Amino acid sequence: MGYENLQVERKDGVAVVTVSRPKKLNALNTKTIDEIDAIFTALASDDEVRGVVVTGAGEKAFVAGADIEELAGLDAESGRALSERGHRVFDRIEWLGKPVVAAINGFALGGGCELALACHVRLASENASLGTPEVKLGLMCGYGGTQRLPRLVGRGAALEILLTGGRVGAEEALRLGLVNRVVPLEQLLPEAEALVREMIANGPLALRATLEAVHGGLDRPLAEAQEGEAQLFGELCASSDAGEGTSAFLEKRAPRFRGR
Ligand code: COA
Repeated sequence: MGYENLQVERKDGVAVVTVSRPKKLNALNTKTIDEIDAIFTALASDDEVRGVVVTGAGEKAFVAGADIEELAGLDAESGRALSERGHRVFDRIEWLGKPVVAAINGFALGGGCELALACHVRLASENASLGTPEVKLGLMCGYGGTQRLPRLVGRGAALEILLTGGRVGAEEALRLGLVNRVVPLEQLLPEAEALVREMIANGPLALRATLEAVHGGLDRPLAEAQEGEAQLFGELCASSDAGEGTSAFLEKRAPRFRGR
């Protein structure tokens, strides 16, 4: 399927999804959100793809936010609907069941920051600049940012970012835990891809179960979340991948995981 505002490249098990509206700094209009929904729906059932990198076209912006032209015309009902749609689409990324790494190559503002937050791990180039400037427009985050940001960096740091609407540079983002690594721009995509490849060398069922345990468990009481972990652990123990992984270790050879 062809996309208007996305480029998608599949290479040896990794899909690189590039948001591409360069004239608007890759801002997320309705069409782009629809296309992100469509590609992540497709990637979920594409067994050839075991991990994903999300980035923005060009050297200036990852994604500079939701499209402000579209935000300008919203009322209470359409605003709520837009937010709920964004939640569904970004939840799809978080719940893909395969590792998703954001390669933040410049501005990641508003909806762009929220897109990065929905990914599992974030790498940033040295020129990256993150933030949630919606309050400067008299608005607020609507694509999960008020929820995912405090869960990632803690309430105090999140509220400073959310309430000032100011921008956080790459090094500060690293200090806050908002991104995992900072690398020169030219190394960003290779490093993001290498990180995904390191992850997908592991058993796919193990990766899926780990993502589910973390995302399903974080908002639950510890005892309940650990019950979920035990259930998933038990299911994995019954998989042939677990048999293969443990046998391979004992036989001093590389495992051949089959996702079964
Ligand atoms: N929505 C719609 N258009 C956007 C956009 C957005 N979120 N962010 C940038 N653009 C457009 C600009 O309007 C401009 O379009 P034009 O050339 O047709 O006038 C083009 O992208 C380039 O942006 P520009 O502002 O000229 O670049 P800059 O280098 O001067 O500034 C930013 C870069 C990111 C600081 C600035 O574009 C900005 O503040 N964007 C909005 C960020 C924001 O508030 N995001 C949250 C929205 S919820």
